[in-house]
Amino acid sequence: MVSRNDPCWCGSGQKWKKCHFPDLGITKRASLAAEYFKKYGIILKTEEQIEGIRRACAMAADILDKTCQMAKEGVTTNQLNDFAHQLHIDAGAIPAPLGYGSPPFPKSICTSLNDVICHGIPDDRPLKQGDILNIDVTCQLGGYFGDCSKMVAIGQIDAEKKKVIDVSHECLMRAIAILKPGLLICQIGELIETYATEHGCSVVDQFVGHGTGLSFHEQPQVPHHYNSLKIPLAPGMTFTIEPMINGGARRGYVDSKDHWTARTSDGKPSAQWEHTLLITENGYEILTLGNSPLDIKLT
Ligand code: MF3
Ligand code: CO
Ligand code: CO
Repeated sequence: MVSRNDPCWCGSGQKWKKCHFPDLGITKRASLAAEYFKKYGIILKTEEQIEGIRRACAMAADILDKTCQMAKEGVTTNQLNDFAHQLHIDAGAIPAPLGYGSPPFPKSICTSLNDVICHGIPDDRPLKQGDILNIDVTCQLGGYFGDCSKMVAIGQIDAEKKKVIDVSHECLMRAIAILKPGLLICQIGELIETYATEHGCSVVDQFVGHGTGLSFHEQPQVPHHYNSLKIPLAPGMTFTIEPMINGGARRGYVDSKDHWTARTSDGKPSAQWEHTLLITENGYEILTLGNSPLDIKLT
């Protein structure tokens, strides 16, 4: 938390209470938004936009929770996809992955199993004991976006799978805990890579977190590995953190047939958790908190 007499996060050298303190900040916030867009292509959101993004994020978190509850032995990832798709439609929302990118992503959610790092495509293979699965939901509601993902374990899993699930979750929640205006983007990757390597895992560097809210993917990129991006976080930024943590080598490769599925190069397991975050005047808000015990326990 920033306190009133701390130096302002904007780097002016003035006390926070004399500079970007919220009560004084309306004009400054507008000029900061112009500066961030010009310098970095980052959109600092207005209160009205934040309200819309909050709703989209709450919807994404709810659909993700419900879909995770359906993930059991014998269920196929296509069944999970159809279930999640229907929840979007019933809520008047659009599943953002469907038709996204090039070639167009063919399904409504991503389901990444075992050695799949991310962007797995739902199919007809039933889940079996010992599988670990990432489910990634991105919901577009009223023109705003919310993006989140979680891991599910099917029955008993081995020690290495348990390790990547726990380490990736810990990386995400520890990174969230340090967020506040003025933190540099590179400090996120620094914390994550240090924690992951200390626990015998590697951090994927080919895919990154990202700004989101008005579009699916916006500036800035948020790397989870060591990097030198010296962009200070500012109030009104909305972005994801979504560390992909491998049990073996960090390197992955994208399937040459479907152009989406990214797998580890050594066949070892990979895990990922994702939240959409808002930077507030003195800290952060997790916009994609669901109702699962894990979300409640860790906040
Ligand atoms: N939801 C993913 C992310 O966290 C992106 C998926 S792109 C898709 O950024 F096309 F595969 F859906
Ligand atoms: Co994302
Ligand atoms: Co996602």
